[in-house]
Amino acid sequence: MKIEHCTIPSSSLLSAMLEGESNVVPNYLQENELSQELEEVIATLPKERGWVASYLHQYQGFWHTTRQLQGVLSCQKHFEAHDTDVLIVTTPKSGTTWLKAWTFALLHRHKYPNTLQNHPLLTHNPHFLVPFLELDLYLNNKHSPHDLTSFHSPRLFSTHLPYVSLPNSIKQSSCKIVYLCRDPKDAFISLWHFTNKLRPQSRGVSSLEETFSKFCRGVSLYGPFWTHVLDYWRMSLKEPGKIMFMRFEEMKLNSNFILKELAAFVGCPFSKQEEEDGVVDEILKLCSFDNLSNLQVNKDGKLSSGEQHEAFFRRGEIGDWKNYLTPEMTQQLDAITKEKLGQHGLRF
Ligand code: A3P
Repeated sequence: MKIEHCTIPSSSLLSAMLEGESNVVPNYLQENELSQELEEVIATLPKERGWVASYLHQYQGFWHTTRQLQGVLSCQKHFEAHDTDVLIVTTPKSGTTWLKAWTFALLHRHKYPNTLQNHPLLTHNPHFLVPFLELDLYLNNKHSPHDLTSFHSPRLFSTHLPYVSLPNSIKQSSCKIVYLCRDPKDAFISLWHFTNKLRPQSRGVSSLEETFSKFCRGVSLYGPFWTHVLDYWRMSLKEPGKIMFMRFEEMKLNSNFILKELAAFVGCPFSKQEEEDGVVDEILKLCSFDNLSNLQVNKDGKLSSGEQHEAFFRRGEIGDWKNYLTPEMTQQLDAITKEKLGQHGLRF
């Protein structure tokens, strides 16, 4: 089956496949082969010790790993948005994998009507079908724009970029942005687990206390979490036709309604007939945690960037933070969230 709307850098796929280790450091966490331009930029930026990679660098107010920053710069310089593009923007560990699956299934439901057979999501991880701009497509393209001619309209991409760092063409075009975030307590716990999986075995598990303190200070992948969320929240209020603001919790608790809202937002609303035929429920079932996490491809596959597919499926629940955070940590995170977001009417 030929799958469109996805591109994989073949050289990095090959190197990832050749790696035999179970926890290969993903490309975007590597710190070699940096361009001259990046070396010069990095020399001017504040830096802190990273959770997995050695350093995080603060660029335009947000923290990035070294190689990832190369992808950010390249994407800012070269990516040209089309009016028909759909861009999924998320804070890390907010349910990106799930939202990619939903949006892909929605946009391509006429091409792949059978969700039980021959559907790309049954044989491909959602991150393969919907690549990240700065972490996949532009990560290794130091000098030339990535060739995106294999993507057909409506092109579907994703990014974790904060609003301030989005390429201008995204802001200026009529493309749609679907933004997803999550209760920072769950996002933090999910990120802590995820980054521990990515750390080289020799470095062991990072301490919850140490990473918690960094997260609270905003020093986390694409952090500060709260500024990331607030910037998109404000823009979504200003431009509701361009930015749809979503929370993981709403996707969990009100799936049917939110999926229909999303379909309408990205320009492919469900018809009455489709609703009567159960198409909404079929898509929800196809993309459910139970279904996706139990597929063979998601149990033993690996991304070109080096992560194992299974790393993106842990528990998929609301409130797992209760099993990890002390009452003091909970209070601290809630207080930051209230202080930074409460006055703007944002709650989790
Ligand atoms: P947990 O670590 O809390 O389980 P991202 O996709 O942004 O990397 O986020 C990963 C989080 O989303 C993980 O959360 C993962 O389990 C959860 N997740 C992945 N697929 C999901 C799905 N289909 N339904 C619900 N949650 C899902």
